[in-house]
Amino acid sequence: MSPLVVVILAAGQGKRMKSSRPKVLHRLAGRTLLEHVVAAARTISPAKIIVVHGHGGDRVRSALSHLEVEWVEQSPQLGTGHAVSQAVPRVADESVVLVLYGDVPLVNPVTLEEVVARASEETIGLLTVELSDPTGYGRILRHQGRVTRIVEEGDATPAEREVGEVNTGILAVPAARLRGWLAMLEADNAQGEYYLTDVTGLAVRDGMTIETAAPLATEEVLGINDRVQLAELERYFQRREARRLMYEGVSLADPARLDVRGEVVAGRDVSIDVNVILEGRVVIGDEVVIGPNTIIHNAQIGPRTEILANCVIDGAIIGAECRIGPYSRIRPETELATGVHVGNFVEIKKSRLGDGSKVNHLSYVGDSEVGRRANVGAGTITCNYDGANKHRTVIGDDAFIGSGSQLVAPVHVAAGSTIGAGSTITKDTPAGELTLSRARQTTIRGWRRPVKK
Ligand code: UD1
Ligand code: CA
Repeated sequence: MSPLVVVILAAGQGKRMKSSRPKVLHRLAGRTLLEHVVAAARTISPAKIIVVHGHGGDRVRSALSHLEVEWVEQSPQLGTGHAVSQAVPRVADESVVLVLYGDVPLVNPVTLEEVVARASEETIGLLTVELSDPTGYGRILRHQGRVTRIVEEGDATPAEREVGEVNTGILAVPAARLRGWLAMLEADNAQGEYYLTDVTGLAVRDGMTIETAAPLATEEVLGINDRVQLAELERYFQRREARRLMYEGVSLADPARLDVRGEVVAGRDVSIDVNVILEGRVVIGDEVVIGPNTIIHNAQIGPRTEILANCVIDGAIIGAECRIGPYSRIRPETELATGVHVGNFVEIKKSRLGDGSKVNHLSYVGDSEVGRRANVGAGTITCNYDGANKHRTVIGDDAFIGSGSQLVAPVHVAAGSTIGAGSTITKDTPAGELTLSRARQTTIRGWRRPVKK
């Protein structure tokens, strides 16, 4: 089999986005359009991926420098055929070139395989789709069922415009032949551009056959030209993602009110209420319940854990059978073991909490190591920052921290310690003892309130 090279055309300006940002850097489901296309290309294991950039090229390259693709500049931009011409010098003759568009983000890998499978020494694979409104697209012209060429809307006769089968732009062509046809392109057309689509007519004239494939769903070949189309494809993506999760055993209170902006892996009998956003990589165990209005970013949630309404969880590993929220904020580098309870208006940052520990109300626990079965009372604050440096707090197993206490780090509350409510703890406490720092309560007998003069 010939090596496959994917060429992604991304040099267009994207005027209709009305944006200072290059179009391919706009985001769909949390990822840039170009990242979606590169990810789809990657799944069919090409020998290499070449991205043709132009408008805002430096911004595109620096924003997406992690993509491991070859970048080629097209300047000026003289059309899709001219764009592919910039890439072909980097392609070996025996390769097959698959052309994708940087602004067609949701193309399905299965569809790409179908197109590639149709390319050979004698054939070109072309992805076409039947549209009820083909306005703006290149039309596929056939004679006795065989594709003869593609005509762009601006160059089409009224009869040709009646054709509903359109060019998606995605095609697979043997590289050596492509090189020859690209060299023959002319810009004597309505847009004064070198059209990649004219390759089809030249190829047929040279005795090639155009084998067409169809996408599984029309949406996967829709391009994004403006923000309305971006929002429409976002919704399509979300519907598809919600359906996938439901088929895998996740119950969604309303599939239209879940947003997935990354990669979600979920177990069985997971239940997700409305207005939940899952971002980055989120792994959800069996029987997890997620309440409404919750945002989870790059986190792992253990089986049977319950996350109540209005939580924000970021960069955390949460064990099994925990209960989080309502209104909890869990920040990066937090690890909760099994059966941990984190309640309302509690913020946990860069801390580990052992099995069965509880921080139920109005507390801040940061840079801390909390043992097992510890109870951190309402309104406890770990004072981890002295204005210059962060310090750690260690709370041993079975410790009990009275409400309204401040633990001034670095400090170690030993296992089994009890801290009296309202204490400011600045020194390590002994195991198993009651420690408190609190002015003694006094009563001034007979004291009278002032009266208004
Ligand atoms: C193109 C096709 C049309 C097809 C449609 C599908 C041609 C001549 N026409 O039309 O048959 O129905 O796509 O969406 O190919 N680009 C460059 N450099 C350029 C011009 C474009 O990189 O000089 C890139 C754009 O960034 C974009 C893609 O190529 O990703 C398509 O360009 P666009 O101008 O949108 O093509 P259409 O006119 O829509
Ligand atoms: Ca154009």
